[in-house]
Amino acid sequence: MNKKFVIAIDGPAASGKSTTAKQLAGKLKYIYIDTGAMYRASALCTLLQNMSLNDEAALNNMLNEISIKIEYAKDGNRIYLNGKDVSERIREADITKLSSQIAVIRIVREKMVELQRKIGEDGGVIMDGRDIGTVVFPNADFKFFMIADVKTRALRRWKEAKEKSEIISIGEIEKELIWRDENDSNREISPLKQADDAIPIDTSKMSIDEQVQFIYNKIK
Ligand code: CDP
Repeated sequence: MNKKFVIAIDGPAASGKSTTAKQLAGKLKYIYIDTGAMYRASALCTLLQNMSLNDEAALNNMLNEISIKIEYAKDGNRIYLNGKDVSERIREADITKLSSQIAVIRIVREKMVELQRKIGEDGGVIMDGRDIGTVVFPNADFKFFMIADVKTRALRRWKEAKEKSEIISIGEIEKELIWRDENDSNREISPLKQADDAIPIDTSKMSIDEQVQFIYNKIK
């Protein structure tokens, strides 16, 4: 496989996108970009600067100066916001919610899409998110749309939380996922939606290896 493809993986929270994309990138020697981390980092930036999401002028200034770097590391990419490693902080519950709230704002999306297109312009990249196949790279070489039933997704997130010794019930996680799916799917700009030419994958009953192999076979 000499041609360096752009591979888009979209879908709702905890549907298996990032785990699959990460492993697939390792297999193909591609760059993996988790675009959700970029929205999360922007959300954290507004919090650190004590900024209201309604203050468009302040948001504009923030976006003009923001630096988000994604660096490859063996055990998962590290995310730097304005030079500081925020990889763990952006996964906390307050930022998860705020990232979905900031993701409805046009100027934020325009900035993130611009950065994402720059990263992906030479190909050899796997990007996961909500709008990669529909908006960021509508001409991507491959598009996948991952889904899984909400109970399975909640259980996955609960297991991850448990590994980090976080105390949260499956019910609470399920509620958060449903809220976020709705917020992401019903927003006006770039809603979470399957591109017409994306290949759907229901991962509810699939193992991670099966998910990776499924996509790998399609690309081969
Ligand atoms: O990891 P998880 O699937 O829970 O979420 P994420 O991919 O880190 O994305 C966090 C939030 O960022 C989502 O709920 C979306 O609101 C937003 N997002 C987006 O709008 N567009 C993207 N391409 C990626 C994420």
